[in-house]
Amino acid sequence: MLETTHFTDIDDISASELDRVLTRAADIKSGDDETQLTRATLAMLFEKPSTRTRVSFETGMTELGGHALFLGPEDIQLGHGEPLSDTARVLGRYGDAIMVRLFDHEDLLEIAEHSDAPVINGLTDDAHPCQTLADLLTIREHVGDFDEVQAAWVGDGNNVGQSFVLGCAMAGIDLTVATPPAYGVDDDVLEKAAELGSTPTITTDPEEAVADADVVYTDVWISMGQEDQRHEKLQAFEGFQLNEDLLSSTDAKVMHCLPAHRGEEITGDVLEGERSLVWDQAENRLHAQKGLIVELLEE
Ligand code: CP
Ligand code: NVA
Repeated sequence: MLETTHFTDIDDISASELDRVLTRAADIKSGDDETQLTRATLAMLFEKPSTRTRVSFETGMTELGGHALFLGPEDIQLGHGEPLSDTARVLGRYGDAIMVRLFDHEDLLEIAEHSDAPVINGLTDDAHPCQTLADLLTIREHVGDFDEVQAAWVGDGNNVGQSFVLGCAMAGIDLTVATPPAYGVDDDVLEKAAELGSTPTITTDPEEAVADADVVYTDVWISMGQEDQRHEKLQAFEGFQLNEDLLSSTDAKVMHCLPAHRGEEITGDVLEGERSLVWDQAENRLHAQKGLIVELLEE
C-alpha cells in the first residue's frame, strides 16, 4: 500500500516508496512476485494518442488478472459536454483505478479531486511519472546503483524531462539538464527537486551535459499539441540532437521515452546502436506500471 491515493506525479510517493515500487516491478518482471488483482478494472481516459502507455497498461491489467478499458474523449460524454468532475465521480465508482492522459495537468488534478478511485497520470503537458518509473527501473538494470550514476537530460524540459528531474532527485541520481534557454524545466519543478534531495546542474550546452554522463536521455522536440511550434522549435533545438558526434567523447548509454523522430532529436544510428536502451526502457513501462498498480491497489 502506498500512502498516496493518487499518482499525479512521481513525488506523490516518497523516496522509500519509489524504491519499493521499483523492487516490486523487478520481482514481477522476474516472476518472483505473482500477485494477482483478480477482476480489478482500470478505466483509461485518453485525450492524446498513445502506443506504449495504452498497450502496457492494458496488457499489465490482463496479466494481473484484471481488465482495462480504453476511453477516448469522443467515445464518452466527456467529449460531448459532460464535465470532468462528473466523469471522474462516475468512473471512480465503477473502476478500481483511472489512468488518464490529458493535455492540461490542472484537468488531471480536477479528476483526482473528484474520483474515489486512485488516479494515475499517463502523461500531461507537465509530467509523465509512469515513464519515470520505467526509466529508473532501466537505469538500475543497465547503468548501475543510483548513487553512482551520472545522468544527462538533453532536449526539451517539459513533461518527460520534468518528472525525470524529480525522479532523479528522489533516487539520488546526479543529473545535468541541457535545454535551449527558452525550453528549460519549470522553476517550480527545480524547487521541488531541491526539496526532494538535489537540483540538477542546468546548462544550455549539450556537450557539457554529456561529457561525464553514464546515460544520456532525450525526448521529441515537438510534443503532442505543439505541432504549430514546429518551425521555431526546430531552430531552437539545433545542436541538441543525440548523434555519434555529440556522444563521441563518452561511452554513455542512451535513453528515449519514444516515439522517436529519427533525424530530429536523435539519429537512427544512435537509436538503433549499441548504446541504446530504448527497447528495454519501453518494455519496462509494463513491469513498472504493474509494480505501481499492485502497490496502489493492494489492501
Ligand atoms: N512513452 C510514451 O508514453 O509513449 P506513448 O505516447 O506511445 O504512450
Ligand atoms: N514529450 C512528448 C512525450 C511523449 C511520450 C509529448 O508530450 O508528446
